[in-house]
Amino acid sequence: MNQKGGVGKTTCAVNAGAALAARGQRVLLVDMDAQANLSLHLGIEVHRLERTVYTLLLGQSTARETALLDVRPGISVLPASIDLAGAEVELAGRIGRETVLRAALAPFLGEERFDFVLLDCPPSLGLLSLNALVAAREVFIPLQTEFFALQGMSRLLDVVELIRGRLGHTLEITGIIPTLYDSRTNLSREVVSEIARYFGKKVYKALIHSTVKLAECPSHGKTIFEYAPGSRGAKDFDKLAREILRRGPPGPPEGAAAVPGRAEAAAAASAPGAAGAAGAAEPAEGAEAAEPADAAAAVEAPHCPHAAERVPAQP
Ligand SMILES: Nc1ncnc2c1ncn2[C@@H]1O[C@H](COP(=O)(O)OP(=O)(O)OP(=O)(O)O)[C@@H](O)[C@H]1O
Ligand SMILES: [Mg+2]
Repeated sequence: MNQKGGVGKTTCAVNAGAALAARGQRVLLVDMDAQANLSLHLGIEVHRLERTVYTLLLGQSTARETALLDVRPGISVLPASIDLAGAEVELAGRIGRETVLRAALAPFLGEERFDFVLLDCPPSLGLLSLNALVAAREVFIPLQTEFFALQGMSRLLDVVELIRGRLGHTLEITGIIPTLYDSRTNLSREVVSEIARYFGKKVYKALIHSTVKLAECPSHGKTIFEYAPGSRGAKDFDKLAREILRRGPPGPPEGAAAVPGRAEAAAAASAPGAAGAAGAAEPAEGAEAAEPADAAAAVEAPHCPHAAERVPAQP
């Protein structure tokens, strides 16, 4: 998740997912973006689909009916299409509007045993992203290693905090993934140091370099492992997958009871976002009884009171 556009959310969701699948993990990728970039990146012909995340959110299809199972070995997809753009408006008036995805996924994840559910969020903090965050247990934030990388970050941190506080949800920011890293420039190095100063150990060591092959593979409908298996991009994502597996699930927040097992869903790149092991994205206990409207309202709120305290306006 990162409400900033073009920072590598979808590239991370697709290729970290593929790297995890190559390491024997069973991965579900959920395309939460009306641009359908994740679905297209995997060569899915979205215009032919009758059931997508849009019909899922509107209750017109179940997750089982919507999922494209094993589009690659170990990778299943809940695809998006352009009409997903309308879902925000159509869901806006509903009670529990931000828990729709979590409720829709729960029965499916109860039957299918995915190790990781990665949710690729759109570049906004609207209702679709909020649904992804509420369905997730972990948040992965791809940050482009350029000037202004941290701009807007405090708003995202506030939303995560709010979901945790108000919805009684054990959502954790698992990791910051530095993306589009250019080792030839001092700026990339400086930005990574700056990011590390604010996020400490949450920053993954596995940097994703800016490479032509990574930029090319979406137009071929292939993951980097299919398009250029020996490339730097493939090595970077394999390294990231190993680091995700090595680090394991996040620890419980201070004062909280231990969460069993690895987080089940991650708002990658957006969810990854990536996230956890065996099991389903069942709602956190007590979450349903919380105050959903507040969370949704906060996401839409224009002002972030804590911006200056947490993250500098610029790196
Ligand atoms: N490491 C990389 N090296 C080179 N090109 C990259 C890299 N990561 C992403 N790109 C390219 O940059 C563009 C934006 O990447 P991507 O679609 O993953 O970002 P995003 O954050 O998902 O964007 P959006 O906010 O629009 O959803 C794409 O054309 C992608 O191919
Ligand atoms: Mg994207």
